[in-house]
Amino acid sequence: MTRFDGRVALVTGGASGIGKATALRIASEGGTVVIADVQDDLGAEVAAQIEKDDGKSLFLHLDVTSEEGWTDAVAKTVDAFGGLNILVNNAGIGDTEPLEVTTLATWDKVVAVTQTSVFLGMKAAGDALKKSGNGSVVNISSMYGIVGSGVSPAYHAAKGAVRLLTKTTALGWAKEGVRVNSVHPGFIDTPILGDTDRAGLIAGTPMGRLGKPEEMAAMITFLASDDASFATGGEFVVDGGYTAG
Ligand SMILES: NC(=O)c1ccc[n+]([C@@H]2O[C@H](COP(=O)([O-])OP(=O)(O)OC[C@H]3O[C@@H](n4cnc5c(N)ncnc54)[C@H](O)[C@@H]3O)[C@@H](O)[C@H]2O)c1
Repeated sequence: MTRFDGRVALVTGGASGIGKATALRIASEGGTVVIADVQDDLGAEVAAQIEKDDGKSLFLHLDVTSEEGWTDAVAKTVDAFGGLNILVNNAGIGDTEPLEVTTLATWDKVVAVTQTSVFLGMKAAGDALKKSGNGSVVNISSMYGIVGSGVSPAYHAAKGAVRLLTKTTALGWAKEGVRVNSVHPGFIDTPILGDTDRAGLIAGTPMGRLGKPEEMAAMITFLASDDASFATGGEFVVDGGYTAG
């Protein structure tokens, strides 16, 4: 038996970076993975890679800001695979400017994709997760959901909200058979970093390097699995020591 035999996971933002590494890891341990993203070609490639390795996977186009989109994605997942055990709310985008020049449009967009999506996802998947009897939600926040950086007001606000949305849902579902935890990555080498100066990020990280998506997938899959059967409402920092000081 492997950890995810017979389990079905839905991973948002599964076309790239941390979500992709998580989808591949779940599949490598026997899980069926639905990859939900707006990057159709990349998402379909991840699903094809899993299928090629004899796993079970499906790509669904999902804009995580759409309530109807969520209803449809959960229904299609349950139709295709008979249920849903694991939800990884991973899709997110950031802003980079100081508060003074951040527009309301930027704020609204970042909050919709990074924060409201987590609310919509848990709402849409709640019934199926409860029915599974071993449900696990892993919400990807950030170390920037715990500490400030001086810029990126929408991202910090959204990631901080994800942290507490996780805790209150964990308490609400504590006796419903669904655990809910948040993961708080440090600087991880994925496309979201764009052209940010890597040297500056590395210099600010006590371990002196960027994290790898696979190192996030290891924590996410721990929380998604029965290995974490008594963990709920927790915040799990994986940041090379950044927030320890
Ligand atoms: N990389 C880091 O340094 C870092 C640090 C802390 C937290 N995080 C968080 O980790 C998560 C994953 O980011 P990543 O680093 O893998 O970046 P990434 O850009 O590689 O992946 C993000 C994925 O989210 C998808 N996405 C964006 N908007 C979407 C939408 N509206 N609907 C559906 N999918 C959408 C993108 O298409 C992409 O595939 C994000 O929530 C991010 O904020 C990343």
